[in-house]
Amino acid sequence: MAENTDEITKNKWRNLTSLPFPIKALFTGYILVIGLGLMMAGAQILLTHGMADGKFGVSVDDIVYSYYGNRSSSKLQSKLNGSMQDKATSQEKAVIFKWIASGAGEHEWQTTINPITQAKCAHCHANIPTLPNVTKYEVIKELAEVDMGAETSSLTRISHIHLFGIAFIFFFIGFIFSFAVGFPKWLKGLLILTPYTFLILDVSAWWLTRIDPSFAWLVIIGGFGYSLASAVMLSTSLYQMWIMPWRGHVSNEKACWD
Ligand code: HEC
Repeated sequence: MAENTDEITKNKWRNLTSLPFPIKALFTGYILVIGLGLMMAGAQILLTHGMADGKFGVSVDDIVYSYYGNRSSSKLQSKLNGSMQDKATSQEKAVIFKWIASGAGEHEWQTTINPITQAKCAHCHANIPTLPNVTKYEVIKELAEVDMGAETSSLTRISHIHLFGIAFIFFFIGFIFSFAVGFPKWLKGLLILTPYTFLILDVSAWWLTRIDPSFAWLVIIGGFGYSLASAVMLSTSLYQMWIMPWRGHVSNEKACWD
C-alpha cells in the first residue's frame, strides 16, 4: 500500500486517503452536517407520516393515509379513531360520527357539535396556531369531508423541493465518494447512481400512491434505498479520509482520474 510517501504527497488529489488536510476538513464538515440532517429527516418522517395512522413508526398504512387518504372516512373521523381518540368520550364521538354521516349540517352543528368541541377541543385547537380550529364550523365541516389524501398543489410543491434539494445533497456525497479507493469503477459508479434512482422512484411513488394505495410500499423502498446508499458512501468516505491514513494505509491508487 504505502510505498513511497513522497511519491504519494506529490499527487495528493489521487484519492481520499491522500487528500490535502483543508480538503479533508471541508469534506468532513459537510459529511457531519449532512449525516445529522439525514437523522433529523428520519425523525421528522417518524413524527409526521409515522403518526398518520395514530401509531408510532412508519407503516404502509401511514403512507396510504398521507398520500391516498382514507377514502372510506373523513380526516375528522380517522383522527377521532386515531391520535385524538382520548380527547372525547365514546358517547361524544358517537354524536360526532352521526353528525358526519348525516351530512355535517350547520344547524345540527350549532346544537350538538359546538358544545362538545368548545369543551373538549378548544383549549388546544383554538389556541395553537398550527392546528386547525375545529371549533369553527367551516373548519370542522371541511375535516368532516371524505379524506382524499394529498392535494395536487401540495404534492407538486414538495416534489420539486425534494428533487432539487436532495439532488444537491447526493451530488456532493457522490463527488466525495468518487475519490474512494478499493472499489471497482463499475461498482463505484453504481453506488453513486443508486440514490438518484431511488429518489426518482420515491417521488414517483408518492404520485402513484395517490392514485392507487398499493404503491405505498414503493415509497418505503425508495426512501430506504437512498438512505442506505448514502450511509455507505458517507461512512466509507470518513473511514478512508481519517482511519486508513491513521493506520498507515495511505493508498497510491488513482481513485477516479486515470
Ligand atoms: C391536548 C391538545 C389537543 C386536544 C384537547 C385535541 N387535539 Fe386534535 N390535535 C392536537 C395535535 C397536537 C394535533 C396534530 C397531531 C396529530 O394530527 O395527531 C391534532 C390534530 C387533530 C386533527 C387533524 C388535523 C389535521 O389537519 O391534520 C383533527 C381533525 C383533530 N385534531 C380533532 C380534534 C378534536 C375533534 C378534538 C376534540 C374532541 C381534539 N382534536 C382535541 C391536539 C389536541
